[in-house]
Amino acid sequence: MDKIKITGGRQLHGEVIISGAKNAALPLIASSILVNGKTCFTNVPDLMDITSTRLLLEDLGAICKVSKGYLEVEGSSIKKIEAEYDLVRKMRASILVLGPLVARFGHAKVSLPGGCAIGARPVNMHLSGLEALGASISIDHGYIEAKADRLIGNEIYFDMPTVTGTENLMMAATLAKGTSVLRNVAKEPEIVALADALNKMGAKINGAGTAIITIEGVKKLSSVDINIIPDRIETGTFMVAVAATGGDILIKGCNPDHIGGLINKLKAAGTMIETFKDSIRVVGHTPIQSVDIKTLPYPGFPTDMQAQFMALMTIAKGNSMIHESIFENRFAHANELLRMGADISISNGNLAMVRGVKRLQAAQVMASDLRASASLVIAGLVAEGTTVISRVYHMDRGYEAIEKKLSLLGADIERIQ
Ligand code: EPU
Repeated sequence: MDKIKITGGRQLHGEVIISGAKNAALPLIASSILVNGKTCFTNVPDLMDITSTRLLLEDLGAICKVSKGYLEVEGSSIKKIEAEYDLVRKMRASILVLGPLVARFGHAKVSLPGGCAIGARPVNMHLSGLEALGASISIDHGYIEAKADRLIGNEIYFDMPTVTGTENLMMAATLAKGTSVLRNVAKEPEIVALADALNKMGAKINGAGTAIITIEGVKKLSSVDINIIPDRIETGTFMVAVAATGGDILIKGCNPDHIGGLINKLKAAGTMIETFKDSIRVVGHTPIQSVDIKTLPYPGFPTDMQAQFMALMTIAKGNSMIHESIFENRFAHANELLRMGADISISNGNLAMVRGVKRLQAAQVMASDLRASASLVIAGLVAEGTTVISRVYHMDRGYEAIEKKLSLLGADIERIQ
């Protein structure tokens, strides 16, 4: 299995180009199930999760063509309505095919995703939302089965904002009869990107990016070309990396408006940040000031940046309080950072007190999930000595060629067997 080897201590300099967003691409690719024709995607990142989604669509019968940064999905050949356990267990976001399948075919069977390394992550709101649209839902032998002759528009109130839940229901409601009003929805840029794409296909969606989305159902959607938006979490990861190592980089092909919560905290930590239309200049400064953060739904501080920010705070001056309010078990990286000499104590499972130390020491560490792996990469970039990170398959799910991009910025990093 691949590992990442990093010798710390180098500053980052130069330019890096951001890839298409994983969490925008996954629902967008799932939305091609709604179309009885071809959907073409550009700026598609080369990631394991994208391959898993394509394999799932192919298993359903879609004909896919892939080339660098491009994916074409022919949805007219989809015949199967069952997403099998072997495909779903590799990626929880497979649940995103549930809404489109039941909306287009009136029937869907999707393996129930289990818990995951960062929390229980139930899908109850996806299911109650589909029930509100008239689907009958049953769970049998580990599979969710949803049936409806045609979904019927309704009011749906989410107990809390859920990103993939909002996406699933938004896709389902596009082909429902009548109007649906989704309240207390997620406002992430990925939701807006999905609504824009569905509207391009002929859907009638208003309010994406606010707490209330209204969807007037239509009979069918048409073939379109969709360009995937830049990855705000990859952008943020490079920002935190340079804040930690020092140096001066220009992050190109990103959207600074999508990462405001992080920019605010990095500035408070002493990092110099200059934003342009589609690029960000980041200059790292020492000493790094300690800053408290609390993860919140967008536009708050993203939970997907918490692990990387914790790595930065391990070498800040003073104490930082990190409150993870989205997931109940998203501190696995803290235990690995401790092995590198960080001083972190955790209480109640979701509060971490990070006391800054002068320097981290290299160690052999293990990635436990996608963003934890990015946090260990950042720690490795600043640690004294050579760090080896194992289980980097977690990282390959969501970061395109991160070691190559960091190496071009001057980091001493390589992939080893
Ligand atoms: N929740 C429920 N019931 C539900 C759905 C969610 O209780 O039916 C809870 C979750 O357990 C969690 C909270 O609601 O406590 C928010 O979870 P959400 O549903 O928003 O998460 P998600 O849609 O499963 C997406 C991203 C995650 C990201 C979260 C939060 C995708 C494919 N995944 O997950 O991305 O952390 O939103 O922003 O969009 C990552 O990329 O590393 C990643 C984990």
